[in-house]
Amino acid sequence: MNDIARRTSVIGASSGGMPRYASVEELIARERPVLPVYCIFPERFAEAAARFKDFPGDALYAVKANPAPQVLDQVYAAGVRHFDTASLAEIELVRGRFPDAQCHFMAPVRIAGAAHAAFHKYGITDYVIDCDFELDKLLAETDGGKGLRIFLRISTPLGGALLELSSKFGTTPEDAARLLQRVVEAGAQPGLTFHVGSQCLNPFSYAQAIEMARRTADMAGVEIAALDIGGGFPGPYHNNEVPPYHAYFDTIREALATLSGKPKVMCEPGRALIAEGMSLVTQVVLRKDDKLYLNDGIYGSFDELTLPGWTADYPLRVFALNASGEAVLQPPGHAPFRVYGPTCDTLDVLPRPLLLPEDIKPGDYVVVDTVGAYSVALRTTFNGFYPDRWAVIGN
Ligand SMILES: Cc1ncc(COP(=O)(O)O)c(C=O)c1O
Repeated sequence: MNDIARRTSVIGASSGGMPRYASVEELIARERPVLPVYCIFPERFAEAAARFKDFPGDALYAVKANPAPQVLDQVYAAGVRHFDTASLAEIELVRGRFPDAQCHFMAPVRIAGAAHAAFHKYGITDYVIDCDFELDKLLAETDGGKGLRIFLRISTPLGGALLELSSKFGTTPEDAARLLQRVVEAGAQPGLTFHVGSQCLNPFSYAQAIEMARRTADMAGVEIAALDIGGGFPGPYHNNEVPPYHAYFDTIREALATLSGKPKVMCEPGRALIAEGMSLVTQVVLRKDDKLYLNDGIYGSFDELTLPGWTADYPLRVFALNASGEAVLQPPGHAPFRVYGPTCDTLDVLPRPLLLPEDIKPGDYVVVDTVGAYSVALRTTFNGFYPDRWAVIGN
C-alpha cells in the first residue's frame, strides 16, 4: 500500500464510525445533542503537524496528551510516525493501530516487566531513566542493555511554563553525568532528555535546558548519541501570549549548535500536535441566576482547568437554536457565570467564572475550542457521565 492509500484507509477507519458535518452549526442543528460531542477538525491536525517540519529533528507525538483512537488516526494521517509512549498499554495501542509506528518508551519509571515486554515483544530500544534503581531494572529486563539508547532525564528550572514537570522526574546534571557513564559501561548508547514544563511560553527555557544538557555531557566526558528536548510547546488558548513557533525552533537550533558531536535530536510534543484539532460541543442543562449547569465538567473534559498554575482559558462560542431550528452564533458575552458540571459533586465546578451572554439559557450550546489536549485523556466515568460522542467537521 503506498503512503496516500494508507493515509486514506486510516482516515476511513477513524471517521467511518463518526458522523461528518460541514460545520459545528450543522452538527448542533441536525443532532441537537444532549450529551457532549467531541468534534475533530482534520485540517487543523494536519496544520499542527506541518509546523514541526521546521523542528531540527524528529517530533514524537506524546500519546498521553490524547490517546483516543480518533485522535491517533489524525496524528498518523498528518504524517507523524514516531510516538512517545509512557506505558506498555500505550505501546500496544499505537502498534496495534499502526504497525509501522516507531515507539519510544520515554517514562523514567516503569512498572516491573514493562521494559521486558517492550523490548522483547515490540523491539523498543529507547528508554529513559533518572536513577540507579530504574537503570538496574532496565538492564536486567533487556538482557544487559546492549542495543538500547538510554536517556538520562535532567530536572530543569521552571522558566516560562504553566505546568512544571521537573519535580517528580529528573535528576541533577552531576548525578546524570554519573549515570551516563554507567550507561556507556553497560554498552548502551547514552542520551539526555528533559521537559521544560507544559504550555511553555518562553522559548529561552529550551536554550537554558540544552545548556544544562551540554554541561552534563561535558561533566560525564561522554559524547551523547541523542538529545530529546521533551514537549511543552504551547497551544493558542486565551489569556496566554504564545510566541510564534519559529521563535522556539530558532532558539533551539542556536542552542543545539553549542553541543559537541551531532546527537540525534528529538522532541515530544503532546499539546502542540492536538490542542487545536478538537472542539467540544456542550449543552446548558440548567440556569439558576448566574449559576450555569453544563453537561460536562471537571470529571469529564475540563480537568486541566483545575491544575495549580493553569491560567489559560479555552476559547468559547455560544449557539442558540432559532425558531427554524438553526444554530445561531450569539454575540460574545461578558456576564460572569459560575459553571458546574453534571455530577453530584460540589467540587464539579470550573475554577474561574466564564464570561457568557447575559441571556444564555438551558438548551443553548457552549462550544469549547482548542480542547484536544488533556481533556479526553483525563475524563472519568464518575457518576456515570463519560463524554464519548464524536463527529468530524469539514467537507
Ligand atoms: C515525558 C513527557 N513528554 C512529553 C509530554 C507532553 O508534553 P506537552 O503536552 O506539554 O507537549 C509530557 C507531558 O506530561 C511528558 O511528561
